[in-house]
Amino acid sequence: MTAPQRPLDRLCQELTTVLGRDPKGKAVAALLERYAREEGDWAQWTFFDAGTYTRNLVHRSSLYELLILGWEAGQASPIHDHDGQHCWMAVLEGPMQEVHFRAAGPGAPLTQGALRTFERGEVAYIADEIALHRVQATPAARGVSLHLYSSPIDTCRTYDPTSGEARRLAVGYHSVRGVLCGEKSAASVRAEWAAV
Ligand SMILES: [Fe+2]
Repeated sequence: MTAPQRPLDRLCQELTTVLGRDPKGKAVAALLERYAREEGDWAQWTFFDAGTYTRNLVHRSSLYELLILGWEAGQASPIHDHDGQHCWMAVLEGPMQEVHFRAAGPGAPLTQGALRTFERGEVAYIADEIALHRVQATPAARGVSLHLYSSPIDTCRTYDPTSGEARRLAVGYHSVRGVLCGEKSAASVRAEWAAV
């Protein structure tokens, strides 16, 4: 089999190999970091929306999904968990910020941790046993981040920081491999790709 020329496709091939060998993905951060520091083909598959940050799907298999998120200045995710999965974030254009939160129990406000800032090429990791988190662009600049979920996530829980109340949220995609799709659900893309 010939090696794919596009750096993003090459990264997907390498991630498939690495995660197939080690589901905890100890070598994953190094692959993401190298891609984020050296490559720029992600720009062709990155969209922005004045109303919300965008989730742009690059690759999805039973092992993992790779997404590029486009953030206008000041846009932020809800506080969320990761459905028991591993999640890495590499900054492609930054800076980007992350805030950890802890749930104290039903009806109790969340406890907020420190805000951390990541520059281009830096990689963050999160899992449910570490914390809940919110990801955001700074108020001054657009951001682009590369997210790897292993395994893929169709739903997650979002949290109200004041009441601690959790709500299950079905996630979707703004674009799929560079083509806008108008917020297609992750579950529908999974079903379509499984049928090919
Ligand atoms: Fe997250």
